[in-house]
Amino acid sequence: MTEKRVTFASKIGIVAAAAGSAVGLGNIWRFPSQTADGGGAIFILIYIACILFFGIPLMMSEFMVGRAARANTAGAFQKLAPGTPWKWVGRLGVLTGFVIMGFYMVVSGWTLDYFFQSLSGSLHKVDNLSAHFDALQANPVRQIAWMIPFVFLSVFFIVSGVKKGIERSAKIFMPLLFLLLIVLAIRSITLEGAIRGLSFLFRPDLSHVKSTVFLDAMGQAFFSLSLGMGCMITYGSYFNNNTDLAKTSIQVSTLDTLVAILAGVVIFPSAFALTANPETIVNELVAGGPGLLFITLPELFNQMPLSMVWSALFFCLLALAALTSTISLMEVVTVYLHEEYRVSRLKGTLLVSAGVIILGIISSYSSLFFNVLDVASAKFMLPIGGFFICLFMGWRLKKNLILLQLTNNGELPARAKLLNGYLFLLRYVIPIAILSIFVYGIVG
Ligand code: TRP
Repeated sequence: MTEKRVTFASKIGIVAAAAGSAVGLGNIWRFPSQTADGGGAIFILIYIACILFFGIPLMMSEFMVGRAARANTAGAFQKLAPGTPWKWVGRLGVLTGFVIMGFYMVVSGWTLDYFFQSLSGSLHKVDNLSAHFDALQANPVRQIAWMIPFVFLSVFFIVSGVKKGIERSAKIFMPLLFLLLIVLAIRSITLEGAIRGLSFLFRPDLSHVKSTVFLDAMGQAFFSLSLGMGCMITYGSYFNNNTDLAKTSIQVSTLDTLVAILAGVVIFPSAFALTANPETIVNELVAGGPGLLFITLPELFNQMPLSMVWSALFFCLLALAALTSTISLMEVVTVYLHEEYRVSRLKGTLLVSAGVIILGIISSYSSLFFNVLDVASAKFMLPIGGFFICLFMGWRLKKNLILLQLTNNGELPARAKLLNGYLFLLRYVIPIAILSIFVYGIVG
């Protein structure tokens, strides 16, 4: 590799880019429906435990692998362990990227659809928002018509390059989204009857717990933090040598978790307060479905003055949050093609787009296919990828290399104290936990 690799421009840009990847539809669309499905508070508790015990250490690991190798996912394993099968972990990640984009782009398309419906005012004339969402689901052509522009929007940012495209967009839109969620959360919890939603979110009720709740929560944690497919390896490869990886991982994970919980605080109190049938709402929520966000939120906006404005703003920012995530997914695959097969970035991106559009079209026609991609990525491919990344760090990489990454070549000597505990987690605790949860989730 003769050309010099770019790095992100600033410390805040690094956090913004990584958080931009992490914060997305996973937090605002997938987290609430998984929480509903997992029975509320109990799911959230397990989810937070997963963030703390797997998420943060694994994010650190991906950053380290990326920054130590300064290469794409598969190239990074190849560089750090030449001539070994470890590069297949990177290749699995590239495949996982495709699988995720195959349904993620479709949901991103829904956000554009709802954004334009808000702008035109048509969303606010709808009486039955649930039937309205079903109509979108039943109309693959309309979904495809929104998905394809979204794919090309991501292409545009990928092609305009790492620094300008990814970093700048994340730095502006993320804080705006956060602020808007706070405003919506306040509106939601001040609705009459909101308290039951809050108690669903924060008071564990064991009567709805399923045996798969651990795997669901773990998969959601990987998905939400963009872990297990080398996305953070790729972003780590753009970090500066003086980026504090431990601190960055904690910051990104904290932000990501806050956004998810905030989305829950927006959605559940309104779902409980605005329902026509309070007796069955819990069962309806547990029955789940991907529509929760797209049904409950427009109902909430209708409770606010200038509902159109709020609604347009929200779906616009949601689309942008999705965009900073699809950019990161696409970047993983593009830079892989660029570095391993020497195709130009533009050509690489267009190849990726073609594949993603085909998967997206199938997902739009078949909700079964959509669900298979969702489940395969979050509950199988990401945990398996995370498992192997952990083993790679714990058992294959030299302890000294990890120490150098952890302390930035000795510039942060205090971090050295973390090394043994961190290695113990990576060698034993995390792999065994991932494996047990995985097996229990499948067999149990
Ligand atoms: N984390 C993003 C979200 O929550 C989605 C995402 C982006 C992702 N890159 C990823 C998920 C890599 C898994 C792996 O919406």
